[in-house]
Amino acid sequence: MLRMLTAGESHGPGLTVVVEGLPARVPVDRAAIDAELRRRQGGYGRGGRMKIESDAVEILSGVRHGLTLGSPVSFLIRNRDHENWKDVMSPDPQPPEAKTRRALRRPRPGHADLAGALKYVTDDLRSVLERASARETAARVAAGALVRGLLDAAGVKVRSHVLRIGPAALPPDGVVAWEALDRIEESPVRCSDADVASAMIGEIDRAKRAGDTVGGVFEVVVRGLPPGLGSFSQWDRRLDGRLAQALMSIPAVKAVALGAGFEGGERAGSAFHDEIFFDAERGLHRGSNRAGGLEGGVTNGEELRVRAVVKPIPTLLMPLRSIDLVTKEPEAASVERSDTCVVPAAGVVGEAMVAWVAADALLEKLGGDSLPELLEHLEATRAQWKAFLERR
Ligand SMILES: Cc1cc2nc3c(=O)[nH]c(=O)nc-3n(C[C@H](O)[C@H](O)[C@H](O)COP(=O)(O)O)c2cc1C
Repeated sequence: MLRMLTAGESHGPGLTVVVEGLPARVPVDRAAIDAELRRRQGGYGRGGRMKIESDAVEILSGVRHGLTLGSPVSFLIRNRDHENWKDVMSPDPQPPEAKTRRALRRPRPGHADLAGALKYVTDDLRSVLERASARETAARVAAGALVRGLLDAAGVKVRSHVLRIGPAALPPDGVVAWEALDRIEESPVRCSDADVASAMIGEIDRAKRAGDTVGGVFEVVVRGLPPGLGSFSQWDRRLDGRLAQALMSIPAVKAVALGAGFEGGERAGSAFHDEIFFDAERGLHRGSNRAGGLEGGVTNGEELRVRAVVKPIPTLLMPLRSIDLVTKEPEAASVERSDTCVVPAAGVVGEAMVAWVAADALLEKLGGDSLPELLEHLEATRAQWKAFLERR
């Protein structure tokens, strides 16, 4: 239903994103989009690059007087750092020996450097890492912020928080309540527990002092999703699969779990599945939510909860062993200006990707060329569920 294409290199003039398939009359709040971009830039453990950039969108198409037109929406996010890289990133041919090439030849273990060099058969790693860089995720966050206009109107809210940074973690089987996320942005690591948050900060400081990096786990929580989104009728229509793909596509994300996820491998069925209840006061409800709001690849009306594991990022100030791609001699991997920990920021990117999949699934179920039409369809669907549940 929705399509998103991003373009742009990390030190090029800017990032662009084109969003197609959004209905007309969705409110677009540029300040809210910029606020999301600022959240992605934040979090304890970010490096020098984020001090240079102060991301903001320029709206190039698809929006008029604060509302979408139904035509493709496109944004430009300029890279302020490009000023310092104009020659290095010049689109014009350069002499092979020019210093402006700033060629990199020592691939970093864990980055796309070596795989990209083999793919494109080049020893100039700059040509690989410029697009592989997670700078691209700024464009995704802008697209995610755009579709939040549709989600908000449908009563759907998306939040995230950090569960683990290195060994510092919330208890493994605890569920952090939605309300505990009200003030999550006040925590520098976006963690709901102050003691665990200071342990997380300690881990980041320790890694930084050692010239190392540290990973962790974030969770995205969605409230207000109607039941019935996604489908079990075909493998590629299952919403769990679509969410996993969207989250796994975030650079450095190495595992995705719905609800209690990996815990399911340890428990008996009787201690895992969410029992079903109905009473006059609460209506249809569940005793727990280990499924994370999805059964059979379809939303079941509970909160959607999905976790992602972020590996420690690959650029180390104390670099790992590598080779020079030309001489094949052993060398330390190259060092670029870099972050120490990106888990809080990755959570913000995760929100954008989950918002994207949720908006796509809503459009699939409800359709409509304009937001009012979609909301009418939502009302009609709600009335249908009400009648179904009140039937005796
Ligand atoms: C928000 C964000 C910021 C990142 N910043 C860095 C960074 O500064 N240095 C780095 O080496 N990797 C960084 N990464 C991770 C790399 O982009 C990623 O490891 C690399 O592209 C290889 O992809 P893979 O880890 O998915 O295999 C960041 C990831 C995210 C989500």
